[in-house]
Amino acid sequence: DLQSNTDSPTFAIESYACQRRTPLKHHNASLTEALELLAQNAEFTDNEGRSVAFRRAAAVLKTLPRAVRRLDDLKGLPCLGEHSLRVIKEILEDGVSSEVESTRQSEQYKAMKVLTGIFGVGTKTAERWFREGIRSLADLKTRGGRLNREQQAGLDYYDDLNRPVSKAEAHAIGQIVGEAVRAVLPGAEITLTGGFRRGKEVGHDVDFLITHPEEGKEEGLMPKIVSWLETKGLLLYQKTTRNSYLESKDGPVRPSHNMDRFERCFSIFKLKRTPEVCGTSNQSAGQNDVTEGSDVRQQEVQSEPSDWRAVRVDLVVSPYSQFAFALLGWTGSKLFERELRRWAGQEKSMSLSSHVLYDRAQNRYLRASSEEEIFALLGLEYIPPSQRNA
Ligand code: CTP
Ligand code: MN
Ligand code: MN
Ligand code: MN
Repeated sequence: DLQSNTDSPTFAIESYACQRRTPLKHHNASLTEALELLAQNAEFTDNEGRSVAFRRAAAVLKTLPRAVRRLDDLKGLPCLGEHSLRVIKEILEDGVSSEVESTRQSEQYKAMKVLTGIFGVGTKTAERWFREGIRSLADLKTRGGRLNREQQAGLDYYDDLNRPVSKAEAHAIGQIVGEAVRAVLPGAEITLTGGFRRGKEVGHDVDFLITHPEEGKEEGLMPKIVSWLETKGLLLYQKTTRNSYLESKDGPVRPSHNMDRFERCFSIFKLKRTPEVCGTSNQSAGQNDVTEGSDVRQQEVQSEPSDWRAVRVDLVVSPYSQFAFALLGWTGSKLFERELRRWAGQEKSMSLSSHVLYDRAQNRYLRASSEEEIFALLGLEYIPPSQRNA
């Protein structure tokens, strides 16, 4: 028991997040929120190493069976660096951390938060805009010019895309995607991935993985799904990328970076509001879409509650033989995925991607047909999706 005065905790906490069970709900939310804010700020200032260190520290706190009350409770825990411990100490003693609060209020953090909140805007672009003096969406609009199609959509649907997607909405999107997939390829299978598969109540988007038990049938599927959806007027935006994995002559390419090469579609759905989807509270009644055009037009849009909302949806098509890797890779969390790859590389001399597992020592690819098999090949205990919330 942690309450007793022993020097070492009675249970050991493993140092890779993929060796541990991390539930969605845990006992140290105020500490992890603080550390994750610093992690995000480190991303905003292009300090990836520091960002990952804060995220790993936060992930350790998420696994603890009770709330941390004093620094002693942290004895023997991995991944807690000097900086993270200092922040935790301040919060335990004063209730808040001065560094966290001053970061939260900083001009750069606030501006970067707003700008990276635009779909299609990453840290690099937001940083450049910040250096040009842009602090808000209004600044961006008056600056004028040069937004790509993705960023324009991000701006047009900014409010909707920054409002959490509910489980009911995810379910409704799943029905639509299911209908589309069945219409264009009978026998195809669709699986909800991402945060909703891990049990999250809300998400920033909805992620789906699509496959067909007959290898090869899935080729070229995405454009068909997309055109079915477009014909029905269900898409506000889409960008489809072809599968680039099978294009090399010598079979599968060794995974060289984290980005996978599946046929995929980053989209924005136009989801009709129905009582089932909205529940009782129609939160966005009166919410407007940021529409280009005159003030008069915007006023008109604003005064009418819209009968639909924009929802970000990611669709990925995987060949059946790679499905288990794709499922593992697209279920997340992002830190859990990162830790799986780090474990594979550092502890097992293997490279894990969303396509395949490569054994560098044996110089061969390892196939698997379930997530359980992949964990086993990696020498890890199986962690179910609901416990991958690192
Ligand atoms: N992913 C990926 N390649 C991308 C984007 C995402 O492999 N280009 C993976 C991520 O690593 C993650 C999963 O897809 O494992 C889901 O990512 P995302 O939708 O961004 O996050 P969620 O965990 O679903 O959380 P949220 O509610 O914010 O969507
Ligand atoms: Mn998601
Ligand atoms: Mn996200
Ligand atoms: Mn996603």
